[in-house]
Amino acid sequence: SVTPASIGIHDLALATSHYRLDLGALADHQGIDPAKYSVGIGQDVMSVLAPDEDIVTMAAEATARILERNGMDGIRTLLFATESGIDQSKSAGVYVHQLVGLPETVRVVELKQACYSATAALQFAIGLIARDPSQKVLVVASDVARYDLGSSGESTQGAAAAAMLVQANPGLMAVANPAGVFTQDVMDFWRPNYRSTALVDGKGSIKAYLNAIGGAWTDYLNQGGAPFESFASICYHQPFTKMASKAHRHLAVMAGQNPAPAEVADYLADTMRYNRLIGNSYTASVYVALASLLDTHDGDLTGARVGLASYGSGSVAEFFGGVIQPGYRDLLRVQEHRSIIERRIPLDHTAYEVLHKTTLPEDGREYRTAAETTGPFRFAGMGEHMRRYERTT
Ligand code: HMG
Repeated sequence: SVTPASIGIHDLALATSHYRLDLGALADHQGIDPAKYSVGIGQDVMSVLAPDEDIVTMAAEATARILERNGMDGIRTLLFATESGIDQSKSAGVYVHQLVGLPETVRVVELKQACYSATAALQFAIGLIARDPSQKVLVVASDVARYDLGSSGESTQGAAAAAMLVQANPGLMAVANPAGVFTQDVMDFWRPNYRSTALVDGKGSIKAYLNAIGGAWTDYLNQGGAPFESFASICYHQPFTKMASKAHRHLAVMAGQNPAPAEVADYLADTMRYNRLIGNSYTASVYVALASLLDTHDGDLTGARVGLASYGSGSVAEFFGGVIQPGYRDLLRVQEHRSIIERRIPLDHTAYEVLHKTTLPEDGREYRTAAETTGPFRFAGMGEHMRRYERTT
């Protein structure tokens, strides 16, 4: 086979939840200044899943849209990135494979390393396609960020999926070499198997994030990467959008710059629009930022170099660049993304708390979820310890 001129992201579709909580309502309930959230952490709204939604329903929705447009020809692999696993053994991707009707001749596997694993999946996909450029890979990232009620992380919850079709001669972004990587064993954020919410050292996690992104950036330069000034934009992992500003400032200082806060905010604004309204979506977050940049940037980004800075607590970080392809605007899903963000139904604080406290029975008994989602797939419930999914249309 011939080595293709480029490999990267051909199509990118997002999905999120049925409900949302405005952070103003959270601030009111807590009796604090709402500016702590809108300004201090840079978040306005968080996505909240209905009881009949989960990582599978969001992922299936985003993947189905990719397949509606592109068909299934050439797809031999589905890589499912998540840290909100619903089963210790079976990949959530196998449920998605069935729900969207992929053929049996597709391998499916789940990858985990906190918020980072979708980036690993993207690089592994590129490796597979370099070996056989006729193949395409679905990379699907789907997560729900959950912290305890009343904890400092509560305002940084959220949920979304990002599905990408990775192939040779991509329409959106060609992924460039090199990639800079960094791994260090840190306990900044983790979720033991017996917990449904994460544990976090909030302040420590911010330091760990900056340290890891700095390490990945240094490795990127050591591998012969492009200079900082050459990036038209950088999409950072956004647990909350202010974190991207902190990270950008960190790299700018490493590059010998000293940008004012307004300059940083301006440089990153397009990458933050969706995340401000969705909240943390863990593995999907950096690809939500990429969709936000491509969908909402006013000018033409054709030929522009864009950086992706991925971080997963624990911790692994990766920095790599890509080049935006001619004709990319024809492949964007601007209306679709606007509609999934706008159609979410606002919850009052009481209803949000009830949803947060809802847990699945652990004894395997028959359990039906109420039909609430308006998405194309729903988590119908459980029986005999097995999860059941169905189409809504
Ligand atoms: P906190 O301790 O409640 O907040 O929680 P704070 O007191 O530090 O305030 C936050 C910011 O708001 C500060 O600004 C305040 O000054 C400002 P900063 O000093 O950071 O620039 N502020 C105000 N601004 C305007 N008007 C006001 C006002 N009041 C305060 N009235 C924290 C913050 C991020 C620690 C918490 O939300 C948390 O623990 N979140 C979860 C952890 C997290 O998101 N960490 C991020 C890095 S780790 C990561 O990204 C990985 C992750 O995605 C998981 C994974 O990889 O799987 C989390």
